[in-house]
Amino acid sequence: MGLSFNEFKDEAIKILNIDLDSYKIKRVKRRTDSLMRRHNIKTYDDCLELIKRDTDFRAAYLNHFTINTSEFFRNPENFDYLRDKVLPGLFNKQEKVKIWSAPCSNGAEPYSIAIILEEMNIKPHRYEILASDIDPDILEMARTGIYSNNILQNVSPELLKKYFSPVQKNSNSKYQLTKDIINRVTFERKDLLKENYSSDWDLILSRNFFIYLTREVKERLTRKFTMALKPGGYLFLGNTEFIFDPRRYGLTKLYSSFYKKED
Ligand SMILES: C[S@@+](CC[C@H](N)C(=O)[O-])C[C@H]1O[C@@H](n2cnc3c(N)ncnc32)[C@H](O)[C@@H]1O
Repeated sequence: MGLSFNEFKDEAIKILNIDLDSYKIKRVKRRTDSLMRRHNIKTYDDCLELIKRDTDFRAAYLNHFTINTSEFFRNPENFDYLRDKVLPGLFNKQEKVKIWSAPCSNGAEPYSIAIILEEMNIKPHRYEILASDIDPDILEMARTGIYSNNILQNVSPELLKKYFSPVQKNSNSKYQLTKDIINRVTFERKDLLKENYSSDWDLILSRNFFIYLTREVKERLTRKFTMALKPGGYLFLGNTEFIFDPRRYGLTKLYSSFYKKED
């Protein structure tokens, strides 16, 4: 008898060095099955063999699994709230503000913040933006600052003109961010499930990541993120993500997906 999905998963965890048990199991199975169909792989034994032997397939498995979708100003009303309420409060209160996008995917999220701060006329020495993700390929892409149209749909024509230039050599319209904005963000590879978090953040964006995780892991990470925030700091989640009973963590719910750590 061949490997069951659970046996496959337990073996795959050892090879891939990713904690698949922390993610919602149904989704891990769905993503595995769809990748197997795409590659015409019939059994979990064959899939495991490929993960062991074929470095390209191993990378494809990880890529397929960690959905990298992101876009500039994703859920624009939340970015309006950030610009109008959260950021002015932070910059009025202190000289330097520390912001962490975790996970950042292709960089559209941390770069959106850099653009907002530039528009608010906040000088770069007054802030730090760190952006991290588990996927080295997507971080490589993020560092180039090159994006296709679909990722830029929420960027107004004025901002597009001011902060992006068309990439000439490519006919299917891509745009590159100005060097100034690219230089405002520091990217680093980090596994948010396994590694420790640094502290003293004023604003942490962890958007569209909790949706993939089991309830227990989500709770553990909510605790870790809250610990990493300064008192009075903000946690900004994705539009469909909520913290049940935020007071358990010492958080207060503000607008939509924003939570504030008690002072
Ligand atoms: C849907 S994207 C979210 C990007 C962005 N925050 C947004 O909302 O547009 C999810 C990201 O989580 C990353 N990811 C998955 N597991 C991770 C882990 N254990 N540690 C760090 N990043 C992880 C994936 O590589 C992917 O880029």
